[in-house]
Amino acid sequence: MKFLITGGAGFIGSNYCHYVTEKYPEDEFVCLDALTYAGNYNNIKSLEDKPNFKFVKGNITDMELVDKLFAEEKFDVVINFAAESHVDNSIKNPRIFLETNILGTQTLMDACRKYGIKRYHQVSTDEVYGDLPLDRPDLVFTEENPIKTSSPYSSSKAGADLLVGAYYRTYGLPVSISRCSNNYGPYQFPEKLIPVVFSKAMKDEKIPVYGTGENVRDWIHVYDHNVGVDMIVRNGRVGEVYNLGGHSERTNLTVVKTILKQLGKSEDLIEFVADRKGHDLRYAIDSTKAETELGWNRTHTFEEGIKETIEWYVNNQDWVDNILSGEYKEAYKG
Ligand code: NAD
Ligand code: TYD
Repeated sequence: MKFLITGGAGFIGSNYCHYVTEKYPEDEFVCLDALTYAGNYNNIKSLEDKPNFKFVKGNITDMELVDKLFAEEKFDVVINFAAESHVDNSIKNPRIFLETNILGTQTLMDACRKYGIKRYHQVSTDEVYGDLPLDRPDLVFTEENPIKTSSPYSSSKAGADLLVGAYYRTYGLPVSISRCSNNYGPYQFPEKLIPVVFSKAMKDEKIPVYGTGENVRDWIHVYDHNVGVDMIVRNGRVGEVYNLGGHSERTNLTVVKTILKQLGKSEDLIEFVADRKGHDLRYAIDSTKAETELGWNRTHTFEEGIKETIEWYVNNQDWVDNILSGEYKEAYKG
């Protein structure tokens, strides 16, 4: 089978490319990525020589390029990881989020309709369900929860999910959607909480904690997320949404302190700063559907997963430095 993996130079997509090219040597994987500021060719450079991997630089909103690629490659499966993914950026500049996350999804699905496809999979987020109160630990998101978004980012992801549902209902496109909680692991761009804490702590710089630090996220190792996506794409039912959660709710402050402790750094580095506008309080995911239907489960606990992840960042400090210096932009020679 031939797969199109969009956004494969980003955090989750690159981990996916590493996982599937190794696991399925008989399948072919084409990675389409625009290499925006969040795309880093270094993440997938080591896959260059694999016979079942190919990289194409391009934008998922570029109808001509997408059409040509589909005509040439005749994909069986499309997995759309490509997105503008950072909430803080979406608050500052919503437009690019609507363009990439909604129009990009439309462009890909129109090509799927034109050329035929076995499956279109949309990588979505638990943020489409909005947030939960901090004082109701009994509440969790199931696939039946209404869409109720807070940020331009989550709204653009929700818009895309609705469009995916519409293409299933209206055109019969064989689609599926996964909604996952907060990921951590190797290759996460140092704008998100965990790599921000790591990179600042290593330089003994202040670590900005928004508001009180009491907001809760449900953390999942990127490997476990990707195993779930793979199971849904291969065995999940068409037209369905599957939640994937970490079963690891932690306050932001707990996460920050865990990392500082592992690095042997002082908690004095923590600096409480102005809260994010519209800041979601708590996310918690019920993944019973993926677990019972597909046999999906997590292989990492938060404690061992975060330990292994911070060790990865320590051992790959040059990967972080390369981003902070801007040098990573030169990694793709075309
Ligand atoms: P990321 O920002 O690290 O990577 C996004 C990738 O998409 C980059 O390589 C970027 O170059 C590429 N891209 C952006 N715009 C593009 C465009 N117009 N055309 C082609 N490529 C483009 O994001 P991530 O954290 O790896 O997230 C991947 C997907 O998973 C996103 O759809 C995101 O919404 C979803 N998701 C992320 C999380 C998380 O915790 N990070 C959780 C749940 C769902
Ligand atoms: P983030 O990694 O941006 O993911 P998301 O907003 O998609 O959940 O942020 C995780 C949590 O950490 C969120 O509650 C915001 C908070 N946060 C900080 O307190 N300081 C930071 O520097 C960042 C980037 C995030």
